[in-house]
Amino acid sequence: MKVIVVKNYEELSQMAADLVAQEMQAKDEIVLGLATGSTPEGMYSILVKMYQEGKLDFSKVKSFNLDDYLGLEEDNDQSYRYFMNKHLFSKVNIKRENTFVPPAMTKDPEKSGLEYDQKILEAGGIDLQILGIGINGHIGFNEPGPAFVGPTHKIDLSEETIKANSRFFEKIEDVPKQAITMGMKSILNARKIILIANGQSKADAIYKTIKGPISPEVPSSILQLHQNLTIIIDEEAAKKLE
Ligand code: PGA
Repeated sequence: MKVIVVKNYEELSQMAADLVAQEMQAKDEIVLGLATGSTPEGMYSILVKMYQEGKLDFSKVKSFNLDDYLGLEEDNDQSYRYFMNKHLFSKVNIKRENTFVPPAMTKDPEKSGLEYDQKILEAGGIDLQILGIGINGHIGFNEPGPAFVGPTHKIDLSEETIKANSRFFEKIEDVPKQAITMGMKSILNARKIILIANGQSKADAIYKTIKGPISPEVPSSILQLHQNLTIIIDEEAAKKLE
C-alpha cells in the first residue's frame, strides 16, 4: 500500500487525475472502475480538461461505476448515472454503450448484480478502480456490517450514510434508503486501486483503513489485502496517522 499525503483538495485532484491519465495513456482499451461523490469531482474536471487539450482519448475506454441508489431513474439529478453523465461522460468521447452503472431500476437486484459482475469479467476485469470513502469506512455502498459481501448486491444504507448524503437533497426524507453496489469481489479484483479522501471528517475512516484491524465493520480495511493500492489524502484526512 502506498499512502500519499498532499496539501489540499486541488493537489489531490491533480494527482489522482495524473495517475488516471498515465494509466489511460499506457492502455487505450482500459477498463476503469469509477466512483461518484464530491471527492472525485475535481479529478473528473481535470480529466475533462486533459481531454479537451487532446491529451486523453476515451474512445476505447470502458467504465463500470461502483453503485447507484435503487429506484432512481437515470434522468433523476440525484442518480449516479446522472452524476457521471454530467461530470464526465457527456464531456469526453467515451461511448455511451461502454459506460456501465449498476441498474438502479432493477426488480431483481440479486440477478442484476451477478450480471453486472459478469459484464466486468467479460470486459477483462477492472484495470484501475477509483474509490472514495464514507465517514464510516464504506467503499462503494458497502456499508459496515457482519460480513464482507462479494457480488454486486442490494444494500440498506446506514443512518450515517443517509445523513451524510442528505446534503445533496432538499430534505433527509428524500434520500433513498437502498442502493445497489459493487461488492468486494469486483473491487478487490481490480488490478490497481486509487482511494482518494479529503477533509477532517474522513480522518478516522482513513486511520482505520490503513492501520486496521481488517473487519467488515470498517469495509475499507479489507483493502489492506490488495496488492496495488494507492491512497491519496490531504493533510486533514491524514491527521490521525502520525
Ligand atoms: P464523498 O462520498 O466523496 O461525497 O465524501 C464518498 C463516499 O461516500 O464514498
